[in-house]
Parts: sequence; structure tokens; C-alpha cells
Amino acid sequence: MKISRVLPLVVGAAMLLAVVGCDQRPPAASAQQATAVPGTQVKKTYQDMVVGYAQIGAESEWRTANTASVKETAQQLGVELKFSDGQQKQENQIKAIRSFIAQKVDVIGVPPVVETGWETVFIEAKDAGIPIILVDRRAAVPEDLYVTYLGSDFIEEGRNAARVMVQLMNGKANIVELVGTIGSAPANDRYKGFREILKDYPDRKIIDSQSGDFTRARGREVMETFLKTHGNKINALYAHNDDMAIGAILAIEAAGLKPGKDIKIVSVDAVHGAFEAMIAGKLNATVECNPLLGPQFFEMALKVVNGEPVPKWVPSKEGIYYPNNAKDILPMRKY
Ligand code: AHR
Repeated sequence: MKISRVLPLVVGAAMLLAVVGCDQRPPAASAQQATAVPGTQVKKTYQDMVVGYAQIGAESEWRTANTASVKETAQQLGVELKFSDGQQKQENQIKAIRSFIAQKVDVIGVPPVVETGWETVFIEAKDAGIPIILVDRRAAVPEDLYVTYLGSDFIEEGRNAARVMVQLMNGKANIVELVGTIGSAPANDRYKGFREILKDYPDRKIIDSQSGDFTRARGREVMETFLKTHGNKINALYAHNDDMAIGAILAIEAAGLKPGKDIKIVSVDAVHGAFEAMIAGKLNATVECNPLLGPQFFEMALKVVNGEPVPKWVPSKEGIYYPNNAKDILPMRKY
């Protein structure tokens, strides 16, 4: 080829190099540089995030499902998760939050075991620039101390349980109530919502109400006490969760009575154990409370670290389940 023909090609190539520069970095780094407009930040992905989750413990089937949802979702998305089990103690959850702050995680998720006593540690997180997401339970703190709450309307769950109870007990009802963990948001709200509806039905009375701490063992013990105190007078039970209802069913049977018939039972959660009890005719209804909050939690966490707006409350969608179709529905239930 003649020099006169080659020269324009050489000059063209040299001009092109002068424009793009001699970038020796790998293509991915160059591409990232290209999306980072000066003055703006590159968006974080799930794989960039370190998230702390200060779980309450393992008091119920519901809680076990909640833990599994958080852990499985973190693994699927590639989020680095630091998980702590507070063994039902607020002081342990507070310690876990402090340790997450010291480790400089990007976001902290917490289902507060009780409503009060969180302000100091939430302020510490805020001062460290670490957002708090309330998962499952609310805390009684000013709104600027958490970014969002993901979870149920516990008052509505209590109202729904009462609506079902009113239908089940056509005439006079002597109801005993198994309350959840004292001072917790679901116990406070399910207690309140139930009474809101029941006040219009004076023939349906709550004759006793005590805490079973959301566990099967305590549900059984407290039901035994109710039966000793009130005997055959009891014809209805409202349990703030399925585990306590399942414990109470054992106490009712041990007393020679038929749960679901002699004593009508309504509880909350809709876990597998409740469906099994309904199929066996021992539980009359369960009001759903969804524990599968992992996907929403990490979605909100990613938005928050990227400075995107999130709603102050992401409410769960929930139903009510009855024995008539429990057998068909159980295989489709995820928890
Ligand atoms: O906060 C949700 C409640 O906590 C569930 O209803 C109960 O089963 C759990 O322990």
C-alpha cells in the first residue's frame, strides 16, 4: 500500500486515541465511571450492602418463619447479613444494635420486643448515620428515629378476631383471652382492637385475660389456670397468636373438654400449626399476620441507602382462615 493511502488512517487513529484517552482499566470499571455523572454517587446494589437484623428470638412458629424469610432473602440477593437472636430480651436487642453501629453496617432492621425504651439507642444509630427500619413491630419513638415500618395493622387483627368471635358465639359468650408479650405492640393492639368491636355486644364478655407470652408452653399453663378458676363457665378463647392457642388446646383436652366445640377458639397468625388444628376441628378461625417480610425489608433497605424515598408504613396484606377449606389451603401456605 502506498504511503499516501496509509497516512490518513494513522492520523485518524491517533486523533481517536487523543479523544478517548489511554484507559487501561477493565471494561466494568470504565463503564461504572461512565454512569457516575460528576457530583452524583454511584447507586449501591444489594451486593454492596451490609445489613444488621436484631431479631427478638424464636418464641413462635411465626418468628421462625420471619427469621427464615430474612436469612433466605439476604442469601438470594447477595446481601451481607449480620443476624442476632435477642432471646426475647430487649437488653439483648439493644446490645445487638450497638454492635451493628460499631461495625458500621449500612442499615439496621429491628422488630422491637416491646414498644417503649428504644429512644436512646435509636438516637445513637441516627447520630452514626445508620437508618433504622422497624420490621413486624412498632416502637414508641418519634418518627424521625426510623425510616419506615413494615408490618401488620395489629389493631385491625384484633378487630377481625372479635368480628369472627361475635359470629361464632350467637348468644352469650364467656371469653378468656391469652394476651401476647406484655408491652409489645401486637399484644397492646390486639387487646385494644378486640375490645373496640366487642363493646357493642354486651352478652359477649371477657371474663379473664392474662399473658401467655406468645409461647405454646405459657399458653397451656395459663389456660390450665383459667379452667381451674372458671371451670365450665368458659365457652370461648381468644388467643393473640396460634402458638398460645395450640398450647391451650392441650390444656382443654386434658380437662376433658373439646376444643373448637365446648370452647370456641379464635387466634392470630395463620401458621401451619393453626391449619392443622382447624383440620382436626380444634380451632375455629385464625386471623392472618404475615411473617414473610424479608423481600420488602431488603427492598426498602436498598432504597434507603440510595437516598430514595420510602413510605413511613408498608402495611401487610392479610386474610382470615376457617376450617371449611383449611385442608385445601394448607399445601399452598408458605409458613
Ligand atoms: O409480632 C408478631 C407476633 O410475634 C406474632 O403474632 C407472634 O406469633 C409472634 O411471636
